[in-house]
Amino acid sequence: MAFQKSPGTQDILPGVVERWQYAEQKARDICRRFNFREIRTPIFEATELFQRGVGETTDIVEKEMYTFTDRGDRSITLRPEGTAGVVRSYVENKLYGEPDVSKLYYIGPMFRYERQQAGRYRQFHQFGIEALGSVDPSIDAEVIALGYTFYKEVGLKGVRVEINSVGTPAVRAAFREKLLAFLMPMREQLCKDCQSRMERNPLRVLDCKTDQARFENAPSILDSLDEECTTHFEKVKTYLSDMGIPFSINPRLVRGLDYYTHTAFEYKAEGIGAIDTIGGGGRYNGLVAEIGGPDQPGVGLGLGLERTIMLLEHQQAELDNAHQVDVYVVALGEAADREVTRLVYELRTSGIRAERDYLGRKMKAQMKSADRLQARYTAILGDDELARGEIALKEMATGEQRVVALASLASELKSN
Ligand code: HAM
Repeated sequence: MAFQKSPGTQDILPGVVERWQYAEQKARDICRRFNFREIRTPIFEATELFQRGVGETTDIVEKEMYTFTDRGDRSITLRPEGTAGVVRSYVENKLYGEPDVSKLYYIGPMFRYERQQAGRYRQFHQFGIEALGSVDPSIDAEVIALGYTFYKEVGLKGVRVEINSVGTPAVRAAFREKLLAFLMPMREQLCKDCQSRMERNPLRVLDCKTDQARFENAPSILDSLDEECTTHFEKVKTYLSDMGIPFSINPRLVRGLDYYTHTAFEYKAEGIGAIDTIGGGGRYNGLVAEIGGPDQPGVGLGLGLERTIMLLEHQQAELDNAHQVDVYVVALGEAADREVTRLVYELRTSGIRAERDYLGRKMKAQMKSADRLQARYTAILGDDELARGEIALKEMATGEQRVVALASLASELKSN
């Protein structure tokens, strides 16, 4: 019996992987410009970290974690998201002792046992950033701007930014009461999900797609913000406008993780079935202390790479991988065959993308292979040329052919 991949996982094959490489390269490049530095944390952590960090009443902790007991009898969980691990590392390595704000980024796999659908996987990948150690709203705006810039620079069109303030825990507790008073009379008419959310996390009820129409007159959390929250939110909006980042305010926006305070935001785009959120994040001022560290604030985001790539394909964004190799070296004859092994190595080590035949094929089949790879040049080496220390070089686009010295092939190709 042949094996198949597990449900909710993907093989990323050549042809598509180039999109991934491009997106990852863009992410790294943008982080370099914004002065975020990479952090690599383990893919599994103690289960309790996520229970405490992500929150006991979230869907993630309640039903989506890949949790197992290891051989040392520890409860281990494959990371369902990146923030908790980064914060654990920030505390464990005492990064808070450094004089500057810790601006960190990561790219890697996350695991959630979710129902499969377009854009929803059990192993998926995030590009995430976390800025720890400052309450300044300019960092909230910078984080939002970084995500926006990422989408823009990878070539994604139609990305909308929605922002909200979810206040402080005290603000939320007061709002929760107001909201429950509004929801109670309609409890029986709401969907099962809403009913259970009313008990666990009423703010998330407003997020429900099924019952949206009933919430038109629901109270807005923005009316419940205290002065500190309002000032913070106002500044974030001002800075975003100053940077020219378009955004809209969505007072219903509540994220699926418990740690957010003040700013919460999402990036949305159409094109992946029922899913429109492609990335999100926010501020989390209580999280570092919650998992045993000092009282340090943080703000960050996580962008789903599968969703980004799917949308790029959907929008048929061009991928610049037309020429897979610079030169295909064709060998004719035994002596030439030996020289080609050396020659191709020389070309590759001098920075040229070079390919050759490994199947003992005739010239015609080798030329076809060069065509498939869209080689810019084919270099043809027969025993005669070899004896003269030369090689025939053909430019594929024009059909133009000339003879160059073997010793100067690398520099010849480089100067073109
Ligand atoms: P999140 O909203 O849970 O936030 O996930 C961020 C993004 O990861 C989503 O918008 C989506 O693009 C992608 N994603 C989530 N689940 C799946 C899935 N099952 N399949 C495919 N893509 C998925 C967080 O994870 C926070 N840690 C973000 C953050 C960082 N907040 C502050 N710092």
